[in-house]
Amino acid sequence: MNYNEAEKKLKKYGQDHVLKYYDQINDDEKKALLDQIGSADFSVIESSIEAMEAPAKEHKISPIEALKLPEIGDSMDKYKNIGLDAIKAGKVGAVLLAGGMGTRLGAEGPKGVFNIGKTREVYIFQRIIENMLDVVKEAGCFIHLFVMTSDKNDEETRNFFEAHQYFGYDKGFVSFFKQDMALATDVNGKVYMSSKYHIADSPNGNGGWFLSLKKSGLLDVIHNEGIEWLNCFAVDNVLQRIADPVFIGAVIDHGDKCGSKVVRKADPDEKVGVMCLKDGHPSVIEYYEMTPKLRDTRTSDGEYAYNFGVILNYLFDVQSLEEIASSRLPWHVVNKKIPYLDENGDLISPEEPNGYKYETLILDMVEMFDSCLPFEVVREKEFAPVKNKTGVDSVESAQKLLEENGYTL
Ligand code: UTP
Repeated sequence: MNYNEAEKKLKKYGQDHVLKYYDQINDDEKKALLDQIGSADFSVIESSIEAMEAPAKEHKISPIEALKLPEIGDSMDKYKNIGLDAIKAGKVGAVLLAGGMGTRLGAEGPKGVFNIGKTREVYIFQRIIENMLDVVKEAGCFIHLFVMTSDKNDEETRNFFEAHQYFGYDKGFVSFFKQDMALATDVNGKVYMSSKYHIADSPNGNGGWFLSLKKSGLLDVIHNEGIEWLNCFAVDNVLQRIADPVFIGAVIDHGDKCGSKVVRKADPDEKVGVMCLKDGHPSVIEYYEMTPKLRDTRTSDGEYAYNFGVILNYLFDVQSLEEIASSRLPWHVVNKKIPYLDENGDLISPEEPNGYKYETLILDMVEMFDSCLPFEVVREKEFAPVKNKTGVDSVESAQKLLEENGYTL
């Protein structure tokens, strides 16, 4: 994109201040800025803020039936065999969502390089690979792992895997792709500059994974290899089972195109999104959207009706993903601290949230499916997220759970 085109595009969205320093930057920087303006989607900003400020739409929320532990136990062998057959036939791939910033953990760099060991080094990426290797051993074949990174952590993530020889995984079965970035703005929707030649931006949320995967060309690899199912999971749950044959088998056996691992809520007020039906479609209701009435609703057998929390471990049918890929996921506007250039061109790191980041979320993808199987797993065995330094969902709590599961740290 040339200067005139950039100016025109910026004017259209009321963002002309982006070119304020153009005369002060060198040719390479000019090119970098024009390229960023060319590829950036400014239209997201206005529509997202408008949607955020609009009155919330009324939806009909109703409970969804989960496949619970006793039922899973009864059909364990059947599900496992179906899942293992799919894995052995090369029909299953895994997608590690590792493009996040891990701000709550506060560690520099990719979250997966965080060492949660006590007497030895145990990296989060290592735990993920070890868990995958359990299934690889059982199935007798490798599972293609697609790792989503972002501009902010791509190089370090790739180098880390290389430096650790992929923790024993066959590197021929590991592919990396970068997610797209979204612009960051002040509360009035004006983009911030993070330098004189770069608009402040951040990873565009974990909902962008499929379009980014497609953009990277890896969807062709998925087609060529005959992969029909993708198990998407978060980087920070150090206990989760990945490409779990029982989960895969259950989803296939039930004829669903989407499945979600869920855990029983620790208490009715736990801050976790729970599965439900929204206007008849599978959906995730966020804890802050949960009204007291919904929270206290019970089923005929006395259980809480909205009791199954998502742990960000989903199974998706690839063909369905392609059909829904063009559907627009809603953008979420998140109030965050965004470093920015002030009037004098000095970089300021704010102490308090000073603007908005824009993200799409993987949980909104679930709603685009006609059905989704909530699949219960034992919380203490499969859910140890490392979100915070201390307290709930922290390094300490994850270490404790790993040790309780017999893992030496
Ligand atoms: P979180 O919502 O916990 O975000 O991501 P985060 O960025 O890791 O951590 P905070 O909120 O800054 O502390 C859940 C999962 O989604 C991935 C994360 O890497 C994690 O596996 N994710 C999140 C992405 O891949 N891209 C994103 O843009 C955001």
